[in-house]
Amino acid sequence: MLALCHSKIISMNIDLIATQLETTGYLVLQQALDAELITALATRCHDDDDNRFKTAHIGRGADKQHISSIRGDVISWLEDEDATDSVFLAQMESLRSGLNQRLFLGLFDYECHYAIYDAGMGYAKHLDVLQGKKNRILSTVLYLNQDWQEGDGGELDVYDANGETVIATVQPRLGTMIIFLSETFPHAVRLSNNTRRSIAGWFRVNGS
Ligand code: OGA
Ligand code: MN
Repeated sequence: MLALCHSKIISMNIDLIATQLETTGYLVLQQALDAELITALATRCHDDDDNRFKTAHIGRGADKQHISSIRGDVISWLEDEDATDSVFLAQMESLRSGLNQRLFLGLFDYECHYAIYDAGMGYAKHLDVLQGKKNRILSTVLYLNQDWQEGDGGELDVYDANGETVIATVQPRLGTMIIFLSETFPHAVRLSNNTRRSIAGWFRVNGS
């Protein structure tokens, strides 16, 4: 089944999202949220406030490292206190409860951050499950690039479970969202030739 849907706003299509996750394990929505919200989120995804965005790291705790050749973004976690962020978080909350009702995933919460990749940056092939902490179940990435063109780079390559074959390439266009099973699909961000903006997020089960 083709995992690409045209103009599907999340809140109206939870049945379809659940079905795709059950069958292919991932899906791409081309207009995941209404246009006004997407524009407001894109505006929030700018590194213009001192110290809001920080260098992203790989690993956790003692293993935490920053190697920009592996992961080159700067990130800022969304905050319920911000008017725009809270609308997005509420929509993801309704997706969380809707998927739990349909798929019994036991999703407990959702964490997400804005990410900005400068030109020349990417993210090498990886799985989103943090070592020793298998609590990320579903990954989401919402793209916030207004005028993304072929040649700008920064596409997301999604691999099969073996990590050998690319099964989908997603262009990081404004309003596109990919949702995929975190433990199943290795993925990589191709080097971007332009500033690349997104929100990466994870639905988690209660790890403790
Ligand atoms: C991540 C990630 C993909 C993307 O942040 O873990 O894989 O397309 N992001 O931005
Ligand atoms: Mn990832």
